[in-house]
Amino acid sequence: MRKQIAAANWKMNLSYQEAETLLDEILEADIRLEFHQMAIFAVPFPYLIMSRSEVEDEMNYEVAAQNCHHKKSGAYTGEVSVDMLHSIGVNYCIVGHSERREYNAETNAMLADKVNLCLEKAITPIFCCGEPLEIREAGTQNNFVAQQLKESLFHLSAVEIKNIIIAYEPIWAIGTGKTASTAQAQEIHHYLRSVIAGKYGADIANEIPILYGGSVKAGNAKELFASPDVDGGLVGGASLIADDFIEIIKALK
Ligand code: 13P
Repeated sequence: MRKQIAAANWKMNLSYQEAETLLDEILEADIRLEFHQMAIFAVPFPYLIMSRSEVEDEMNYEVAAQNCHHKKSGAYTGEVSVDMLHSIGVNYCIVGHSERREYNAETNAMLADKVNLCLEKAITPIFCCGEPLEIREAGTQNNFVAQQLKESLFHLSAVEIKNIIIAYEPIWAIGTGKTASTAQAQEIHHYLRSVIAGKYGADIANEIPILYGGSVKAGNAKELFASPDVDGGLVGGASLIADDFIEIIKALK
C-alpha cells in the first residue's frame, strides 16, 4: 500500500516548552502505526533538533522543516539551507506552502531549485500545491495545480519523482474552517495522479502519496482519508491540539 501520512504543520506557533509538551503528549498516546503509516511534525527551525531527538526511537515518526532556501549557501542573512537541515538529520521539508508563495513571493521556478537541493541531500520534499478561491470559482483549478506540478517537479527523473510527497491544499480552505468536500478532494487528487501518470506512468503515480490540507480536523479526517486518492493530510490548526492530532493520526487508512 502507498504510504499514508499525517503531517502536522505547526507554522509560526508554540513556544519551545509548549512544543516539547505537545510532542510528549502525542508520542505517549496509544497509537500503533502500521508499516505503511507515518506521522511527520513540521516544526519551526529552532525546534528541529529537539523534535528529532523526541521522535528518534519511535517507529514511523519523523520531523520536517517548514521551508529551506533555494540557494545552496552564501550571503542570505537569516535563511536556512538544505545542507544545514541535512547536517542535523532532518529527512523531510515542506516546499512551496501557499503562505510562503504569497508572503515570500516564492515562484514555481524557485521551488524547483528547492526540490533539487532537497533531493541531492536525500531530504523528501513535501511539495504543496493548490488554487486560490478565484481560480476555484472560475472552475480552472485542475489546470492551475497541474501547472504548479509541471513547473516545479516535472524536470525530475522517474527515480527522483518517487521521492516526493505532494500536498494539495486549496488556499480557500486553509485556516478558514471551510474544508473541500470529500468528493472535491478525491476528484482533484485523482486528477493530479493522472497528470503524474501521463508524464511518468501509472506505476510511479500510484506510489506517490498525495495529502490533503485545508481545515482537516479530528471530525472530518476519517472521511477525507477514506477516499482512494487521499493519502492522509497536512494539518495546520488541529495539529496544535494533542487530542485532535492523535485522532487525525488514527484516521489514516
Ligand atoms: P489549517 O489546517 O489550519 O487549515 O492549515 C492547513 C495548512 O496550511 C497546512 O499546511
